[in-house]
Amino acid sequence: MSSPLRLVVLISGAGSNLLALDDACRQGTLNAQVVGVLSDRSAAPGLERARSRGLHAEALPIAPGESRSAHDARLLAATNALRPDLVLLAGYMRILDSSFVQSLQGRLLNIHPSLLPRHKGLHTHRRALEADEIEHGATVHFVTPDLDGGPPVLQARIKIRPGDDETTLAARVQRCEHVIYPTVVQWCASGRLRCIDTKPMLDGHPLVEPIVQDFDF
Ligand code: GRF
Repeated sequence: MSSPLRLVVLISGAGSNLLALDDACRQGTLNAQVVGVLSDRSAAPGLERARSRGLHAEALPIAPGESRSAHDARLLAATNALRPDLVLLAGYMRILDSSFVQSLQGRLLNIHPSLLPRHKGLHTHRRALEADEIEHGATVHFVTPDLDGGPPVLQARIKIRPGDDETTLAARVQRCEHVIYPTVVQWCASGRLRCIDTKPMLDGHPLVEPIVQDFDF
C-alpha cells in the first residue's frame, strides 16, 4: 500500500467533518493522516477537539488591518509548511482568494451542504425548505476560484421529510457528509481520483457529472 496521504484540514467551527476524517484514518478505512488543522477562528471548537486527539491544531486569526490576501498568504505558508498532499476545507467560512486556490489547484477539496449547483453560499438548508424541494444533500467538490462552483465529485442525496426544519435537515445532511468526505479522500488516496487542471478523473475516465449516493438518513 502507498504511504498515507498527508491531510491538512481547514475549519472555522465545530469540526465534525474533521473528526469523521480523522476517525476514518484511525480506523484504517482511509489511508491518510491528518497532519494539521488550521482555523481562522481561535475559538473554533474543532481546534480543541483536534488537540484533544493529539493533532497539530493552529489558529491563524486575521490580524487588525490585515488584508484578505495577506491573511490568505499567511494561511498558505502555514498550510505548505505541513507538506500536505491534500487540503480539505471542512466548514472553513472565509472566502479564499484566487492565489490560494490556484496554488493548491487539484489538491483542494470542499464539502458544501447542498446538491450543487443548487444553493451555493450560506443558509442552504433554509433555502431548500423555502423552495419546497423534495430532496437535499451535500456535495464534495474540487475547489476553483469560482465559489462553490468547482467540479463536483460525490453527492449525498436525502429526501426532505414533512415536518423537517433547518435543524433536523442540517443534522441529517451532516451525517451524510461524514460518510462522503472520507470516501472521496480515500478515492484520492487509492489513486482512483485525480484532478488534472480542473477536470476530475475517476478510474481513468473524466467525471463529467458527480456520482450521486442516496441515503436513508
Ligand atoms: C458542514 O455542514 C459543511 O458542509 C459546511 O460547514 C459545515 C461544517 O461543519 N461547509 P463541521 O465544522 O464539520 O461540523
